[in-house]
Parts: sequence; C-alpha cells; structure tokens
Amino acid sequence: MSTTNTNNGDQPDVKQGIEYWENQPASYDGVLGGFGTGSLPRIESLGSRLFLLNLFPELSTVPSAYKPLKPVAPSIRVRALDVGAGVGRVTSDTLLPLVHDVVLLEPVEPFVQEALKRARASAASSIVTTTPGERTYWPGLADASKSVTILQGTLQDFDPLNPHRVTFLDRVGYQPSRPADDIGQGFDIIWCQWCLGHLSDEDLVTFFVRCRAALKPHRRSLVVVKENLCPDLPGPEPITVFDDQDSSLTRSDLAWKALFAKAGFKVVREQVQEGLPEGLYVVKMYVTVVQIFSRTPSSDY
Ligand SMILES: C[S@@+](CC[C@H](N)C(=O)[O-])C[C@H]1O[C@@H](n2cnc3c(N)ncnc32)[C@H](O)[C@@H]1O
Repeated sequence: MSTTNTNNGDQPDVKQGIEYWENQPASYDGVLGGFGTGSLPRIESLGSRLFLLNLFPELSTVPSAYKPLKPVAPSIRVRALDVGAGVGRVTSDTLLPLVHDVVLLEPVEPFVQEALKRARASAASSIVTTTPGERTYWPGLADASKSVTILQGTLQDFDPLNPHRVTFLDRVGYQPSRPADDIGQGFDIIWCQWCLGHLSDEDLVTFFVRCRAALKPHRRSLVVVKENLCPDLPGPEPITVFDDQDSSLTRSDLAWKALFAKAGFKVVREQVQEGLPEGLYVVKMYVTVVQIFSRTPSSDY
C-alpha cells in the first residue's frame, strides 16, 4: 500500500507528539483543541454512545417503547479499552455509562494524572470541577459496580494482552476477587479516538495486529476508530497529511481503509459524526472486526 504524503513523507515523532500535549491544559478544552467548553463534547459523546448502543443494544440502561430491556447477564462483564485517552473524557462520557470495566491508556503525565484524579474523586462520590463549566462524574465507581484501570504509556509500547511495557497506576472501583483475573482476558470493545494520527502507518498496522489478538474470541468483539478525515482526491490514491504542530498524521477515508485491510480487519459499519462545528475535519467512526468474523455481530458474547 502506498499513501500520498503532502509533506515529503514526514512521520510522527513520538517525543514531539508527547511534548505538544504536555503543553496543553489537562482539561476537555486541552484535549479538544479549544472546543471543550461548547456543545462539541456533549454532541460527540452522545453520537458515540448511540453508535455503540446500535452495536450492543443490550447495554442500554433505559427501556425503549419498541424494545424491552434485555440486560447483559450479571455474570458477564463487558470490557473496553480506551487508548490515547487524554483526561479520560471518552472513558467517562462514552464507555463507562455502558460497559462494566474500562482500561485507559495515556502517555502524557498531566493528562493521565488528571484522569486518575477524576476517577478517584468519582469513587469517593465527589464531583471534579477543573475548568469553569467542566464537571465530570465517572459512573459506577462510587458503588464499585464498574472499574477503571489506568495505565501510562504510548501506543507504540502497548500490547493490550501483555501490558507490562507500560506503567500501571491504579484500578479504581470494582475489584475482582483475584486482582490479576482479567489481565489477559481480552476486550469486547477497543476504542481508539483522536490519537491514532500519532502512529506511523507501520506502527498503526502493528498496533492493530496486537488489537486483533486482544479481542475476546467471540463474533461481537470489535475495534472502533473515531478520527478526523482529510479529503480524498479523485482517484484511488489514499491521502495522508502531516501536521508539524503536534507531529501527527491525518488520514483520508481510503488511507484508513487500506490500513484496516492490511491489519486483517474488515469494516462492518461506518458513520460520520454529525453536529460538530463547521470548519473542522470530517469525523468518522469505523467499526472493524477480525476478517473471519466479518458479518455484523448478532447475539453471543
Ligand atoms: C486529541 S487528544 C484526544 C484524547 C481523547 N482520546 C479524547 O478524545 O478526549 C490526543 C491524545 O493522544 C495522546 N497521544 C499522543 N501521542 C500518543 C502516543 N504515542 N500513544 C498514545 N497516545 C498518544 C495525547 O497525549 C492525547 O491525550
């Protein structure tokens, strides 16, 4: 596969990317490039939750007029991974309202410490206010019905099934009777949002291959990628644009699809996030599954 680089083949530099984020505020506004205090976070996370509920309707906690609640059996804990997680925005606003256990990975010290602070405060039933108007409460931690495990490290160093190359900071909320019980168990959902541009194509395919191995062995397990897209040009060539401010790549739809295919993933659903402010890149959610499970999953965990 070849991609067109509009910037002479520049590739993300891990250190430069981290330095960029270390100098941003540890808040929604910081991780969202100044869009953290308007409507974007609410609209964006609502779009993600609806997208996820479409894939896992049984995670709904609200009965619908059309479909009675058929909750997940109490013995089953749905596990999600949130990578490049920033201050834990996706974990708290998209994943924890729906799943039982989240593993959060973030390399940047002020961000991961902020995530830890928010998780611990929620477990202690307090509401964290960081910037004006920004209050976060992470569901399910105070009554220990849910858990968040916080890891510090880069995606380049991270193997979801063997996380020993990154640093374990804490597990907050629900604790299994044997602490190591769910390490190595794999994930039902691996959620990658607004961070994969920090990986070169090669590192990204390697990471996706590690994700494949870390998906639980049932046909419902999946990887969601929610990222900015640059436009494709007429013609079949995938496009990749380098941003030297944060040393990241923005990829076109064709570029994403070429990388998914290279990693052995099949896209089973894709949807543009509607309702974001004008002037931003198009944001798209892709659901990818391991090719042998290539139809949209239906019933079994
Ligand atoms: C735009 S923010 C998005 C944060 C979060 N996903 C969200 O949507 O709120 C990009 C995140 O990618 C993280 N990041 C940068 N380089 C990374 C790397 N090499 N591995 C993992 N995450 C990285 C940054 O620290 C930052 O938290």
